[in-house]
Amino acid sequence: MNSTDGIAYARGRFVNLDEPVIPVDDRAHQFGDGIYEVIRVYHGRPFLLDEHLARFERSAAAIGLRLDRPMDELRELIFTALDRTGFSDAQVYFQLSRGIVKRDHAYPADTPSHLSMTVRPMVDARFHAARTNGQRVIFAEDIRWKYCYVKSLNLLPNVMVKQRALDAGVADAIFVSNGVVTEGTSSNVAIVVDGVFVTHPADERILHGITRAKVLGLLLQLGVPVREEKFSPADLLKADEVFTMSTVVELAPVIEVDGQPVGLQALREGSVLRRLQRLYREEIARACAPDVADAVGE
Ligand code: PDD
Repeated sequence: MNSTDGIAYARGRFVNLDEPVIPVDDRAHQFGDGIYEVIRVYHGRPFLLDEHLARFERSAAAIGLRLDRPMDELRELIFTALDRTGFSDAQVYFQLSRGIVKRDHAYPADTPSHLSMTVRPMVDARFHAARTNGQRVIFAEDIRWKYCYVKSLNLLPNVMVKQRALDAGVADAIFVSNGVVTEGTSSNVAIVVDGVFVTHPADERILHGITRAKVLGLLLQLGVPVREEKFSPADLLKADEVFTMSTVVELAPVIEVDGQPVGLQALREGSVLRRLQRLYREEIARACAPDVADAVGE
């Protein structure tokens, strides 16, 4: 594997992506016992890094996982990794497992946690298309556990449901739990009804998305009223706009659910979604681009 594909970090050193460095007894490997973050890099600079690091700390605390290193060290490591690749548009993935120790459900308190990371160039064309033209999705039962606010490595339900969506010929699925729309398999979901932005409250049933939080701030700027309230699949089907929010895809309209057209107003110029997309790009430019004018309007 070529270094233009990206680099990895594991067991305290930088390695090629395909170098076998993780022992079988890593608890992430055997139990999914750990947490992770995904960060987007624009113009060589990580976007919303502080927010991602803060959530990483919260996830660790929620599952009683030792961080073993100051956050500043992790931040430095991310910058070092980025410098090594020289990538401008990239995606940083890092995870922390509860360490490398003989397999046992119970964990010894003194095992050091194990940090690993990948940095890969971002291939954005597919996501750009989703942001512009929208995505077709299905509803799926939310079969996950009760700690969805933890960015845990246990993604089996998300993986299964995402694959079911792809097998059904659509892009993704939106989870529904007891008649309530929670979130996507790797995104938060919002609807706009009569000019009001509605999204599931940031409780234990959803991941507290960094993009979602940024969007809530941007809505204040736009003067769009916000309701962090539960809503049903029926509410979603008749909403004026429906969209997903995530680090990787950013903000993308949903145009069809289970074969029914939805939220087509989102595609119009001047919709809440289109205004948010523009503001979000301006935020990226402000935070990451050396020359703001170059980065806006994509
Ligand atoms: N997923 N909800 C779930 C279940 C997610 O997995 C994600 C992100 C989000 C959006 O969170 P954020 O805005 O902080 O990216 C919501 C990442 C991108 C992933 O697993 O690849």
